[in-house]
Amino acid sequence: MSFRTFFLGLSASFGVAWLAIIIIPFIKMRSLEPIAMDEAEGTNAVYIPKRAGRIADGAQVYAENGCYLCHTQLVRPTYAGNDMFRPDWGGLVNDEDRGDTRRETNAFDFAGEKFAQIGVSRMGPDLSNLGRRVEALYAPADEMESEMWLYRHLYNPRWKPRHRSSSCPSFRFLFKETEIKGIASDESLPFEGEDGGEISPKPDARALVSYLLSLKKDQTVPASLDFSPEAEEESIPAKAPSAAPAEEKTEEADTSEDAASEEAAPASEDASAS
Ligand code: HEC
Repeated sequence: MSFRTFFLGLSASFGVAWLAIIIIPFIKMRSLEPIAMDEAEGTNAVYIPKRAGRIADGAQVYAENGCYLCHTQLVRPTYAGNDMFRPDWGGLVNDEDRGDTRRETNAFDFAGEKFAQIGVSRMGPDLSNLGRRVEALYAPADEMESEMWLYRHLYNPRWKPRHRSSSCPSFRFLFKETEIKGIASDESLPFEGEDGGEISPKPDARALVSYLLSLKKDQTVPASLDFSPEAEEESIPAKAPSAAPAEEKTEEADTSEDAASEEAAPASEDASAS
């Protein structure tokens, strides 16, 4: 091979790639402009909650202490488990404002979290909706603040007679004992320390409790992100032009139902095989 052919070949192989990867995309994309979000009817603007600051620190404490070893944050679809029927795992059976809010976990639930702590085993209850449960059920039942309910649980999970045999470890190192001078602090726990002092949460415990209270994965999934078979069924009549005859609509809905059940069947087989 002569030097000339070699040189031409080299330029051609790099030149074509350069043209295809740099020049053509540049020509195509240099004039792109951002599209303003249209809030017109029917758009599904997605609001992603911020989980920053103390909540993010709390997620770190949650990970550091291995809570994920016994607690999941994943309410499985019904074909893969019985989570939906566990008391208030996937949402409240009877939410004061919204009625039955139970639903499966959706990928959207983890948006904004640095790490999706779906958990390793289900030794303890699923915590996807712990914040909602504590605020709506546990704390009012025990007549205390939600934070205090969780502090008590973290300090001594066996403080209630009904939970005497709880195997949730106590995380006492997240609390400090100080001598009581004058009036005890508002945040002090109703337990007496070993040296007779008051027990109050350290910053790690505060962060962890903020994180636990932020766990409310029962908001309605934005329709644009809801790929469950029910949602697809619902959306079909809406997409069809309103002038379309009624018969056609039902036909379409039927086919989507078939598709949905076909989809679900192999999945359940997989689950039982593994
Ligand atoms: C060895 C396994 C284990 C580990 C590790 C563990 N837990 Fe638990 N947890 C349990 C079990 C079992 C229960 C159920 C018994 C009970 O309610 O006390 C439970 C219950 C709970 C509850 C009450 C939930 C409810 O709905 O009643 C909370 C809150 C909780 N754990 C938080 C935590 C946090 C936070 C951590 C990490 C700092 C943690 N757990 C680590 C086993 C564990």
